[in-house]
Amino acid sequence: MSLAVNGGTPVRTAPWPSWPPPLDAAQRELVTAVLESGRWGATQGGSACADLTAAFARRSGVPYGIAVGNATLGLFAALRGLGVGPGDEVIVPAYTFVATATAVLLAGATPVIVDVDPVDLHLSASATEAAVTPRTTAIISVHLAGSPADMDALNAVAARHGLAVVEDAAQAHGATYRGRPVGGLGDAGVYSFQSSKAMTAGEGGLIVCRDQAVHAAIWSVCNVGRTLDGAWYGHPSVGWNLRLTEIQAALLLPWLDRLDEEIDHRNTFAAAVERELAAIPMPASHDGPALPRSPGTTMAPVTLVPQPLGTTRDSRHLLMLRLHVPFDRSFLLAAMEAEGVPLDGGYPPLGTLPALTEAGARAEPCPGAEAASHEVLWVRQPMLMDGPAGAAHIAEALAKVLAA
Ligand SMILES: Cc1ncc(COP(=O)(O)O)c(C=O)c1O
Repeated sequence: MSLAVNGGTPVRTAPWPSWPPPLDAAQRELVTAVLESGRWGATQGGSACADLTAAFARRSGVPYGIAVGNATLGLFAALRGLGVGPGDEVIVPAYTFVATATAVLLAGATPVIVDVDPVDLHLSASATEAAVTPRTTAIISVHLAGSPADMDALNAVAARHGLAVVEDAAQAHGATYRGRPVGGLGDAGVYSFQSSKAMTAGEGGLIVCRDQAVHAAIWSVCNVGRTLDGAWYGHPSVGWNLRLTEIQAALLLPWLDRLDEEIDHRNTFAAAVERELAAIPMPASHDGPALPRSPGTTMAPVTLVPQPLGTTRDSRHLLMLRLHVPFDRSFLLAAMEAEGVPLDGGYPPLGTLPALTEAGARAEPCPGAEAASHEVLWVRQPMLMDGPAGAAHIAEALAKVLAA
């Protein structure tokens, strides 16, 4: 048993749920059927990829879907299909996974890194509007941690400036905004099935869109420049093989039947964490005002990061917590780990990654993302699949460490 903060017994000794969960019977059956069919690729007449894309499109409230190798490629293909390329600028949030920006680089365009709302940490519509230049052609809105970005505000900016909108829904399968599913709220939406995601096949991605011509263009990018009704060796435009396999689709398709149940479980867990956190007293050594740069003054030392306006269903890919007292975060993360409650320090602001700026990305001032990189802690998705005891353990460990 590892020693906890100040020695003693860790708050949590039992393992947290693992991810992915064990295969269920429906997955086992479909994967076996695909394996035995020998039709493992998506161009061999099997139906798993087609059924998966149809189901995802339906759930996203749009007619079209394209299954791809991963979401990075999905974002790239969506941008290319929407006509984004060299010379263009694409606005991306500063607080997101690096792939949101590297997909823009892959398309040959310039990522413009823009600040997030200081409270909900999603792309700020006002900062987006301020960053638009004559070269801007698209915005990538990220539904961070499973809660939707404020799409009405971002779509309004896009409409004013004639910009395309790509939703990065890599973390938000099943989330809704003002009652409407994410993914179908912009020109194209992209989901990820990478191993940490709410639905996973180890890797994978899926693009959804509303417009027939946009679908045809993105499909061509993902299918070596072919056209939907063209010849196998006809390649009127440049494209790549970005396809998902039937085996991956067979793992994913049955998952859709339990996705909502798993989201409900995570939301119940998040609500329990919120209640438990509210009961943690301010540490005596930190009495007084919350961090001056910390938005939303509060008397609790740690709270949930609030969801953006318009969130009607948060898919809870992550639970983001905000620390409202000055505290050595590296110590806190190490001590939480020792207590058996490993948390994550989250993203650095994208503009601080030299690889991106050296590759040509431009970063606007991002105080919101900067503060988040010091004050925000993540509870990862597998932990959110634990029962009420897990929620209590998180709060108990935080209270113990903050009082240390
Ligand atoms: C917000 C976001 N965008 C894009 C990606 C890239 O997805 P993938 O790993 O499927 O390429 C991820 C996660 O991996 C992500 O979290």
